[in-house]
Amino acid sequence: MTTQQTQHGLVQALESKGALPPDWRGTVVSVDRGLFIPDVFEGGDFTADPEGWLRAVYSDAPVVTQVNDGKPTSDGEFKLFTSSSSMPSVMLEMLDLLDVREGHRVLEIGTGVGYNAAWLCYRLGERAVTSVELDEAVLNTARANLKRAGFGPATVLGNGREGHRTGAPYHRVLSTCTMRDVPKAWLEQCPDGRIVTPWGSSFFSGSYATLDVVGGNARGSFSGYPAFMWDRTQRGGAGRVTDIYHGEEGEKGTTDIAPQNVVQDDAAFFTALSVTDAWYRWYEADDDSGEATLWLLADDRKSWATVEYIPQAEAYEVEQYGPRALWAEVREAFLRWYGLGRPERARFGLSVDGGGQRVWLDDPRHVVGRP
Ligand SMILES: C[S@@+](CC[C@H](N)C(=O)[O-])C[C@H]1O[C@@H](n2cnc3c(N)ncnc32)[C@H](O)[C@@H]1O
Repeated sequence: MTTQQTQHGLVQALESKGALPPDWRGTVVSVDRGLFIPDVFEGGDFTADPEGWLRAVYSDAPVVTQVNDGKPTSDGEFKLFTSSSSMPSVMLEMLDLLDVREGHRVLEIGTGVGYNAAWLCYRLGERAVTSVELDEAVLNTARANLKRAGFGPATVLGNGREGHRTGAPYHRVLSTCTMRDVPKAWLEQCPDGRIVTPWGSSFFSGSYATLDVVGGNARGSFSGYPAFMWDRTQRGGAGRVTDIYHGEEGEKGTTDIAPQNVVQDDAAFFTALSVTDAWYRWYEADDDSGEATLWLLADDRKSWATVEYIPQAEAYEVEQYGPRALWAEVREAFLRWYGLGRPERARFGLSVDGGGQRVWLDDPRHVVGRP
């Protein structure tokens, strides 16, 4: 066994990326990821390949432990990732945003394999940690993993959106699945503290929302580029274009907006505030032409649109199919963002209180979306 194939190898990998905050070092050194990873996962069956397993476990990479909610999935079928051991550097990025301190009580949403809960137990003591998981089979495995590692936090089977009143009040809430909104229960159970969650809508969900809560009112900002699994109760659409497009013909037209502009991160973030229930795929042509197609796909699978990108073109062909004109929706949101002066995501903020969820630009009074 080489150093790379031990917990020490994972520590080194994180340190060499500058991804191991000093206050988490002792925890990462001490809690063995190997106790939380099964022999068989999405990367392969490692029962007869212990070296391969060690390499996968002690590298800074996610390990997907469940697809399609655990339903039997045949080869070639679309696989939606539904549970995992998150990428350790991403876990640390979130914990850093969470600003966990000794003495804090933490509510985690999405127990998964239990590794993040174990880190929290090591750092804060198991009595300070409550972790909620929606999938019973996943939770049972996590409980066994945690026990094997010597930890016994409160583990709860339930919808994390409801939190867990029994353990409240919490100083911190950490969600390890993506939310479309910040549930009221979290504000009630963490009335003065901090909430960190991957946040967004179907069009763009690659942001952390970090919210400080004071007296049950939350305000915060967006950062990072997380790629987390959805809260299972709020999923949008997913699948392959070929699951949705079967050769139908849509309405044809042209646009002078280059399609790649609407999917660059800041624009996509803004578009996702109003186009909450459609997602996109960008496909480059597999020749050297530089051409590409933007597909827009509605969560309900009833509408789609394409925009054909050709380098140096002045107008791009558009096709829209179904009850919704998806390109028109995206174009309108993009032009609104453009009209605001193309603001970067860092200039937006999020407020959540009795009045619901509001996204604002620069100043909480300048509300630009209520997704
Ligand atoms: C990325 S995994 C969790 C990773 C884990 N925290 C770790 O230690 O690496 C996301 C988990 O969230 C769970 N989940 C999704 N929606 C949920 C919900 N509404 N309430 C509780 N758990 C949920 C999934 O079943 C999945 O196990």
